Amino acid sequence: MEQSMIKEATAYINDNLTEAPEIGLILGSGLGVLAEKIENPVTFPYKDIPHFPESTVSGHKGQLVTGELEGKQVIAMQGRFHYYEGYSMQQVTFPVRVMKELGIHSIMITNAAGGINKLFKPGDLMLITDHINNMGDNPLLGPNDETLGERFPDMSQVYDEAYLRHANDCAARLGLNVQEGVYVGNTGPAYETPAEINMLRTFGGDAVGMSTVPEVIAAEHAGLRVLGISCISNMAAGILDQPLTHHEVIETTEQVREDFLRFVKEIIRTLPNN
Ligand code: HPA
Repeated sequence: MEQSMIKEATAYINDNLTEAPEIGLILGSGLGVLAEKIENPVTFPYKDIPHFPESTVSGHKGQLVTGELEGKQVIAMQGRFHYYEGYSMQQVTFPVRVMKELGIHSIMITNAAGGINKLFKPGDLMLITDHINNMGDNPLLGPNDETLGERFPDMSQVYDEAYLRHANDCAARLGLNVQEGVYVGNTGPAYETPAEINMLRTFGGDAVGMSTVPEVIAAEHAGLRVLGISCISNMAAGILDQPLTHHEVIETTEQVREDFLRFVKEIIRTLPNN
């Protein structure tokens, strides 16, 4: 990835900001409403930012929103780039690079995911404790830019333990029952078969989705602290006797929206400054 492209995108955003963001947010399907809670927002449509990929999904907002949330300076991606849309891994993770260059120290990455763990139910929130990259690709393939991160980043402790404890404390305070588990990143866009879900359960997966893993790998490479939250929007294929639909995914995330908003806001409000 071109260092100069990151610098140009960063400069464009910086020119319109008075305060540097501390925390990055990637808001998954149906969870973009959080960006509407940002105070004194300055928004940057992706199409205006140099080198940002162009959004293909109609109806998606496709913008960065910066400003204050619960007393912290944040930068939120309202809409993300998915690998299944045809973007390269480098394009999918470009915004993470730019947010890092803008000054964030931490990133909260959210998504809608199918529940593989049979103890889960649609509407659950799951803190991601680890992931399985099942996408057959990696954003760090190719020459490594040492100024961005090291060639062989350690992935043994990606999801920040202190943040996991912090998020669990917040959930307890709010009376939210939050799950923990392993997120499997698949490319999509087809949902999985029941046989694939059985395999992924045997592999140790608790939830499956079509995002997050590339961004988390880039975030780890960049030295960012990571917190991941999945909204279990449906049970994965074969668990219930019903077909999966995108409609169900959106409908469930809308139902848990209030819990999700309360949860993320509380995490940010009480996040220790580091
Ligand atoms: N599988 C893959 N991705 C998903 C799912 C699923 O069941 N639900 C939401 N995103």
